[in-house]
Amino acid sequence: MKTLIAPSVLAADFANLQRDAVMLNESQADWFHIDIMDGMFVPNISFGLPVCAAISKHAKKPMDVHLMIEQPDRYLEDFKKAGADMISVHAEACPHLHRTIQKIKELGLKAGVALNPHTSIDCLRYLLHEIDYVCIMSVNPGFGGQKFIPTTYQKVRDLKDMIDEAGAEVLIQIDGGVDASNAAKLKEAGASVLVAGSYVFGAEDPKAAIEKIKL
Ligand code: DX5
Ligand code: ZN
Repeated sequence: MKTLIAPSVLAADFANLQRDAVMLNESQADWFHIDIMDGMFVPNISFGLPVCAAISKHAKKPMDVHLMIEQPDRYLEDFKKAGADMISVHAEACPHLHRTIQKIKELGLKAGVALNPHTSIDCLRYLLHEIDYVCIMSVNPGFGGQKFIPTTYQKVRDLKDMIDEAGAEVLIQIDGGVDASNAAKLKEAGASVLVAGSYVFGAEDPKAAIEKIKL
């Protein structure tokens, strides 16, 4: 199967979100990746519910909402109403991760867990049959345009082995610093979804850039 591509709207032109959403609709992108930052869990604030809802009016593909916020349980239902089809929460922000995942699924959404670069995959061992995807952060969350951390490859291989051994069906998503220089190696390591922000929206031809990493 070809790698799924989830362009990160964080790198879009916020004054032209409709135009950029239409571009993604026409492209080979598979999901819209929506980065929500609260200035607490991460040292940056991106945008919130009304902007998410506005994007969803134009998005013709599933909306993957990446919550980089503290106590995400408070907002799961609101993000569903704002158009989320799937939500990932950070393991580091959820002391009762199992419960949070159940809540996402009870809302009828796909559930993902995001892991910071230093966080071991071990916390997922007893959760693998409950989740739909794991978002492996290949940069420290909070900003677009950062440099890819190379230890990600081994982490992806280890996670792939863990998923296969458990006989679970979980997608591995990579988020941060993804571009044409690492896409093939990430796929080889076991990645099935690539998030890309600055690489896509910074390209002269974003649609061609998407095709190039859809391997
Ligand atoms: C980082 C965000 C990413 C970011 C990726 O905190 O979670 O989704 O937008 O941007 P690039 O592809 O530019 O690293
Ligand atoms: Zn993200």
